[in-house]
Formats: sequence, C-alpha cells, structure tokens
Amino acid sequence: MRMYDLIMKKRQGGTLTPEEIRYFVEGYTKGEIPDYQVSALMMAIWFRKMDPQETLELTLAMRDSGDVLSLEGIHGIKVDKHSTGGVGDKTSLALTPMVAACGVPVAKMSGRGLGHTGGTIDKLESFPGFSTSISTQQFIENVNRIGIAIMGQTADLAPADKKLYALRDVTATVDNMSLIASSIMSKKLAAGADAIVLDVKTGSGAFMKEEEDSFALAKEMLSIGRMAGKQMAAVVSDMDQPLGRAVGNALEVREAIETLMGKGPEDFTELCMTLGTQMLLLGGVAQTEEEARGKLEESISTGSALKKLAEFVEAQGGDPAAVYDPSLLTTAPLVTEIPAPCDGYVRKIACDEIGICSLMLGGGRENKESEIDLSVGMVLHKKVGDAVKKGDSLATMYASDAAKAEAATKRFIAAYEIGEEKVPERKLIRGIL
Ligand code: URA
Repeated sequence: MRMYDLIMKKRQGGTLTPEEIRYFVEGYTKGEIPDYQVSALMMAIWFRKMDPQETLELTLAMRDSGDVLSLEGIHGIKVDKHSTGGVGDKTSLALTPMVAACGVPVAKMSGRGLGHTGGTIDKLESFPGFSTSISTQQFIENVNRIGIAIMGQTADLAPADKKLYALRDVTATVDNMSLIASSIMSKKLAAGADAIVLDVKTGSGAFMKEEEDSFALAKEMLSIGRMAGKQMAAVVSDMDQPLGRAVGNALEVREAIETLMGKGPEDFTELCMTLGTQMLLLGGVAQTEEEARGKLEESISTGSALKKLAEFVEAQGGDPAAVYDPSLLTTAPLVTEIPAPCDGYVRKIACDEIGICSLMLGGGRENKESEIDLSVGMVLHKKVGDAVKKGDSLATMYASDAAKAEAATKRFIAAYEIGEEKVPERKLIRGIL
C-alpha cells in the first residue's frame, strides 16, 4: 500500500477501505508516514468528506492505536459523559457526584482546558492536593468503593488521535464533522465505559456555531457509539452565552458546590438534571424520566451528592473541607465590578470572547506548557434577556494583575451587545437524541 495512492483516491472522491484507514493510522502513529502526507490526506478528507463507514473505521483504528481500558472490574453499568466544550462548563463537577449518589458508577476520563474553553482536570485541581494522575487499578478501586473516579487522559489512550489532532490544528482541518466525531469517539471508546452521554454544545462559545451542525455532529457520534456496541444518548445544549454565572477554575468549582447545595443557577442546574436523567436511564437505575429526575433532585435535597463530591475529592488526595465551605477555595486579590456602558437589554454575549477574557486573566492556557491561575475569572450578573442600567455591574471580575484586569474588562464589555429591544431568553436544551 502506498500513502500516495490513498491521498489520490480521496482527492478524487473515493471511499477508503478499512485496510487503507488502518494503514495510515498505524503508519502515522509509528512515525513511518510523514506529517506532509497525512496533512494532504486530511485536507482531501476535509474537501471530499468521509461516509459513515469510513468514519467508524477511522474511529476504531484510532481507538486501537493505544490502550483500551477494561472496566470489567467495576460492578454495574458504567456511564461516561462527554461535553464538546464551552465557557463556564463545569457540568462534570456537579453532575458526576449527583449521578454517583444515585447509584450509577462513574468512571470518567477528563482533559485539561485549551484555547478559550476550560477543562475539568484544571478545575478539580482547585482542591489543594487533588490529583487525576492515578493508576488504572486505583481508578477501578475508587469507583467500586465510592462510585466515582476521574482520571487524566494518559498518553497511551488513542495516541493516533493525539498526533492527528495536533496536525489538524495547524493545517486548518479541524472543522470536519467526521474528523471531529472520530476524534472524540476514539477517546471515549478507549476509556471503556458501557454507556456514553454526549453534551453537544451549540453557539458562539462552542466548536459548532450552528445548531444544524451540532445536531449533525451529535447524530454522527451516536451512530459511531452504537455501531461500536455502546449505549448512547446525546443532548444538544446552548453555548451562545456562558453556562451558569461563573467562568474561571475555582469560581466554577464554587458554583458547582453551590449547585449541589441547591443554590445553583437555574440553567446550570437544569443541564445537570437533563444529562443526569439520561445517565440514570442508561445506567438502569431509573425506568422513566420522572423517576430519574426525582432521584437526582433527592441527591441534592438530602445532601448525598455533596457528600459524594467530598468522598471523591478525598479519595484522589484533595482536601474535602472546601466542599462544605467553598470560601476555603483560592481567591484572587483584585475584585472589581464591570460596569454596563448604557441602559437597555442584553441582546447577545459573544461567548468565546468571555472565555478569552478568562484566558487573559491567566485562567487558561495560551499553550500546552502554560501555568494557569486557578483563582481568576468572572461571575456574570447579567445574561441574555436581562435589563441593565448604565453603570450596573455586568459581572464581578477576579484578577491577580491590574493591567490584565483592565485589558480583560475592556474586552468583556465589548463582548456584550446591549440594545433597546428585549430579546427572549435563550433556550438551553435544544434537543435530546
Ligand atoms: N475535540 C476533540 O477531541 N477532537 C476534535 O476533533 C474536536 C474537539
């Protein structure tokens, strides 16, 4: 087989066979096929697309490029959850203890933030001592003992995707439906859960800006998961403004804790309920949506979800005291209010810009090696549809550096579109598939 022939075939609109797909994935992972040939193939795929069978084969080849975890040692139906990423998306922090408290074992792989979106692992590290670098054995033991464990993605998990994603990132070939779906699903399949609930975001803070594309991506991933023998569900949810009110690592942890105390923002609580319902149904601990919701609500009202979070944090080396007293979490020294520039209604928030403001404050990574400041970020007081008066606080900003705070404040104000006409509140849940 020759890489040249594969590139030519795809360039002419042909369909790659499973053998051809495995050939280039394996060859690239081993370093036998150079970047320039794989770049050319990625570009040909971007223009000519892949059919569902090719997409499945690519997913499976990337899954098999490294370790595939066996979670057989964990009792019960293991349910994983994946978000395509966004701003203020602290869902896993609240959702996983809720679901675990309802009896569904959660064995989850999470990633760090990159670009304008945050990552669950960075957020969890706001608990002093917390670590996601645990062995597979420890991971399995923790799930069996307390019902929940979160592990960082190891280098051995879908290494082909890691290499391909880095290449796509610099060759303008990220935004292809098949390439995104196979990239996400290869990692999820390698992580070994029995069932997967996807939270596919849509809007200015998401990867997919258009709702139609988000639905198409959700369907593509559902179909891959099912063909690979997993039970699947997907929720398409709004990311055209930050989720909840907090953006920034420790601030988001605080909001997740408040949500588990029953004092969380309405939209964030609702998303946790919606995703949690799907996880409980797939996990077999509820037969109807009503029953699932009832159990999730109980996990909050009885405090069992909050207790589960404390157990989880402690089991992974963290200090659980902050779970009961979030004021113990790290806080930034400079706290300022961001004033509304005029009267009116919030019509739009450029969500990715809010993520960039957090990045500018030091809350995200400019590159893979950057150290992040867990204490910085913003808590939004005004969201789409809200009335504002000039000088009202749009948000409270938490910063460690005055110059950065000033630059981020300007950018934050520019991200808000305030107009005379009131617009309806944004619909959070766009669909459940
Ligand atoms: N996230 C991934 O893991 N892969 C993509 O291709 C896009 C988003």
